[in-house]
Amino acid sequence: MVYVTRKSHFSASHRLFNPEWNDSRNDEIFDKCNNPRGHGHNYVLEVTVAGQPDQETGYVIDLKKLRDILEEEIIEKVDHKHLNYDVDFLQGIIPTAENVAVMFWQIIERKLPSGKLHSVKLFESDNNFVEYFGDPVKIKRFAVSHETAEMV
Ligand code: NI
Repeated sequence: MVYVTRKSHFSASHRLFNPEWNDSRNDEIFDKCNNPRGHGHNYVLEVTVAGQPDQETGYVIDLKKLRDILEEEIIEKVDHKHLNYDVDFLQGIIPTAENVAVMFWQIIERKLPSGKLHSVKLFESDNNFVEYFGDPVKIKRFAVSHETAEMV
């Protein structure tokens, strides 16, 4: 197996809160990340595809194709957006790096023309990142309330 990685960047805002909790509980758990109007990150996304190099091309996956998939399916949808409100596939999900990485995985995996998705690594900062390898995980999707929708 050879592992091929494409690195991409996007900037987005988010707010971490659980809509089923009251303000004090959200403040206690999420602290500054619960700032009502959100806060931003310059995210770095690293997507790794594993496979055998093709005998004719030498490619596991054509990195131009992987770049285009990431641009069209992920970056265009999240760059300069508010992850809580602007992104269809994140509606109702607490947009932690963990949850966002898993949702990215689900989208990217379906689009890969060759190779096998090995990992999705998402940096929120130089020091904080998460990595997902596709094991089954449960992510809660909350009902999107009218009140939340009006905050947009
Ligand atoms: Ni944050």
